[in-house]
Amino acid sequence: MGEVVPLPAPEEAAEERPVLVVDLGGQYSQLIARRVRECRVYSELVAHTASPAALAARQPLALVLSGGPASVYAEGAPQVDPGIFELGVPVLGICYGMQLMARDLGGRVERTNASEFGRTELAAETGSELFGGLPPEQVCWMSHRDSVTAPPLGSRVVAGSPSTPIAAFEDRERRLYGVQFHPEVVHTPHGTELLTNFLYRVADAPPVWTAAAVIEEETARIRAQVGDRRVLCALSGGVDSAVAALLVHKAVGDQLTCVFVDHGFLRKDEAAQVVETFGRHFHVPLAHVDARERFLGRLAGVTDPEEKRRRIGEEFIRVFEEEAKRLGSVRYLVQGTLYSDVIESGGTDGVAATIKSHHNVGGLPERMDLELVEPLRMLFKDEVRRVGEELGLPERMVWRHPFPGPGLAIRIIGEVTQERLEILREADAILLEEVRRAGLYRELWQCFAVLPAIRSVGVQGDERTYAYPVVIRAVTSEDAMTADWARLPYDLLETISSRIINEIPGVNRVALDLSSKPPATIEWE
Ligand code: XMP
Repeated sequence: MGEVVPLPAPEEAAEERPVLVVDLGGQYSQLIARRVRECRVYSELVAHTASPAALAARQPLALVLSGGPASVYAEGAPQVDPGIFELGVPVLGICYGMQLMARDLGGRVERTNASEFGRTELAAETGSELFGGLPPEQVCWMSHRDSVTAPPLGSRVVAGSPSTPIAAFEDRERRLYGVQFHPEVVHTPHGTELLTNFLYRVADAPPVWTAAAVIEEETARIRAQVGDRRVLCALSGGVDSAVAALLVHKAVGDQLTCVFVDHGFLRKDEAAQVVETFGRHFHVPLAHVDARERFLGRLAGVTDPEEKRRRIGEEFIRVFEEEAKRLGSVRYLVQGTLYSDVIESGGTDGVAATIKSHHNVGGLPERMDLELVEPLRMLFKDEVRRVGEELGLPERMVWRHPFPGPGLAIRIIGEVTQERLEILREADAILLEEVRRAGLYRELWQCFAVLPAIRSVGVQGDERTYAYPVVIRAVTSEDAMTADWARLPYDLLETISSRIINEIPGVNRVALDLSSKPPATIEWE
């Protein structure tokens, strides 16, 4: 590392003209961008402080102003530069975004005692552009205190609810539109059709943003960034690193080397699957490091959860660095950073210019003086999965539940030993096999076994046993911030329990974790 290689002339990566979602602080801003993308139109979130010139520079097909805090008149309430309405770009304001438009464009917003929260009946004019082809009476989802009491000058009211007569307006000439309700949430059954009307009819945005288009665009971008330098990628077995690696491999072929560190805390057959998929099937140059004994040695006698995590993280970096040294001069490191990480680290400031990087492989890039290649940084998780499918990644990898970096080591409560790892791995495999057989795998956010290192008394045959319990943890969740315990059918639980107890020596009891998050967390450590 460090030698000077002439940089290749950067290629212009083809980029879709985006629909920019101006983030006014609403809880659904990300969701709006996702919905637009579901209509196969590329969309990004931008900060509301972006100037009209900065927005225009992106050549947006349309702007969508998101929802936001309670009142446009509140002190410190987010604003937009009204110059954005003069760009000649179609604008759709949603909820707070609609109210900002009304206030800035000659209409009026007031507190009317007509606040609406939840399901609301809407009467819409089906001759309008937004509601064309939709039923005249429909249900929508509202969440507002203030209401628009006069629409922007030159616009026309095209929908109303019993307590909010101005629930939507349009100005066809200037292509400015507003809706008080939230078309992006599932509780507005015709919301997607409304968005489609806005995107396809008003903004004339072609539905061309598909997984195949993403692959083409990203591979061009990667080639432009990397040139003929070498690239390193740490494979974990998870969908993000797998898709990131395949994209880079498609772009620059054998300039990529993947390093797969088997720390011994993976689920049953997972290591073999990574080697089979990447090495044999995709022919990605792969260094498979069997570091199982090293990691187990580092954890000997350790019971504190944070200490376990620290030691595993440290050892991972050590093994990875050793492997990288063996490979010689490398300039780039691939990371599976997602768009949601980018947004959460404040990435929408300044129209996606100064975005902080998320370092999932803690500390590696700086220590090794590597630059990052982040081919997923503009994708949401469900889009990563679709790209993975398009690239031919096996179904099992594409739909794999989230799995923590330290793996089974933080699902053994107490010291990690070889014996306990084997028991837990088997129990986990039985659990997942039965959940898959019941057709419930994809409905769960996560489902796994936990092994508390305590023993209890049982009786098997005529013998007293003194063995471990296994705990079943199954949760539903949207984003892992909150989670609920999954109501697995009793029959399924019975099958799982009897199989685990009968098939795994050393286990005489199965328990079910009935805790939601908060106050519990999903993992036990
Ligand atoms: P908790 O237990 O905090 O977990 O409710 C939330 C989500 O994060 C996953 N998790 C991790 N993922 N490295 C990861 O990549 C980790 O160290 C880690 N710890 C927890 C967990 O599985 C759940 O999906």
